[in-house]
Amino acid sequence: MNLATDSDIPFNRSSLRGRELEYIFQTITIGQIAGDQTFSKKCHALLEQVLGVPRAMVTTSCTHALEMCALLLDIQPGDEVIVPSFTFVSTANAFALRGAKIIFADVRPDTLNLDEEQLAGLISARTRAVVPVHYAGVGCEMDEIVRIATQHGVAVVEDNAHGLFGKFRGRWLGTFGCLAAQSFHETKNITCGEGGALLINDERLIERAEIIREKGTDRSRFFRGQVDKYSWVGIGSSYVMSDVLAAFLYGQLEVWPAIQTQRQRIWTYYDQHLRPWAQERGIGCPVVPAHCEQSYHMYYLVMRSLEQRQALIAQLKSRGILGVFHYVPLHLSPVGQRMGGRSGSCPVSEEKSDRLIRLPCFNSLTPAEQDQVITAVQQFQP
Ligand SMILES: Cc1ncc(COP(=O)(O)O)c(C=O)c1O
Repeated sequence: MNLATDSDIPFNRSSLRGRELEYIFQTITIGQIAGDQTFSKKCHALLEQVLGVPRAMVTTSCTHALEMCALLLDIQPGDEVIVPSFTFVSTANAFALRGAKIIFADVRPDTLNLDEEQLAGLISARTRAVVPVHYAGVGCEMDEIVRIATQHGVAVVEDNAHGLFGKFRGRWLGTFGCLAAQSFHETKNITCGEGGALLINDERLIERAEIIREKGTDRSRFFRGQVDKYSWVGIGSSYVMSDVLAAFLYGQLEVWPAIQTQRQRIWTYYDQHLRPWAQERGIGCPVVPAHCEQSYHMYYLVMRSLEQRQALIAQLKSRGILGVFHYVPLHLSPVGQRMGGRSGSCPVSEEKSDRLIRLPCFNSLTPAEQDQVITAVQQFQP
């Protein structure tokens, strides 16, 4: 079922995949609209079972799951955290919020993922964490990243906002770092509007994560009957997702194979029709290495120049189709520059950011709509 939008083919459109509304109704009738109740627990169990992670906790957003990571790692002012420049603000901001200095790594020109060859050179005595982002749900080179980080005693936190149900060398994304953050924001394959999850692979972090997520209290232990009252036992904040949203989320999570199959169909259709056209014109398409099973989160083109990208966005817009750019490089943002970012220091991020356009990609995109997008792109004179 499609819900209303105000553009012919928007960049994203919300849709229902199963029993989301029925489950939301249930939360109200059984009086469970706060957090960590039946539907949150179902989400936790599903993520833990499918991914094989020791603990999954739904959160108010991926941003908040990343903030929890910074608190769990006890990031302090002066600590350094390495993030790719080509990412969303939250990857860096969550750690900057604790006073960390952000060290920007450039990305690989093929996958647009953190360039693992630069990693060792960016590590200093102050480095506490590296945050690889699996861009578009295509895995970073995790063997190498984990090897280098482990060698230097640096924590790996995966920003897996795009990559739920993607794999690297047969292993789920989100299971390589001691911690990983998921997003269920409206643009993601599986959504509840605004939401996220923290995946905890290092079991030693579970108890503190429960406290941090519950406003610094041992409320989770109280609910398990392990203490007879709960109290303020550490620092924390309010990162618990309402069960109203968890109900929506579970309605999608329980049919995740069908959603992933649909995304794969959409991605493959774009790729079959646009890759030959793009290749003839020196325009780039997503690169998915053979050892990566991607999550089919987005389809993008890398145009030959900024002007060409802007012209394509304008042409699509004139036909009622919304294509969007992605990521202004963080090292050139006002905050990034205050942290030492300079023009030219992450050349691949700068160049790709100017040239990349994301095409409409959402679960209810129909073949007819996709044909419209493909025709509009193919009629563009680069
Ligand atoms: C790589 C990355 N990390 C984090 C986020 C933040 O996710 P959320 O909106 O769930 O906080 C996003 C947003 O799309 C993202 O692209």
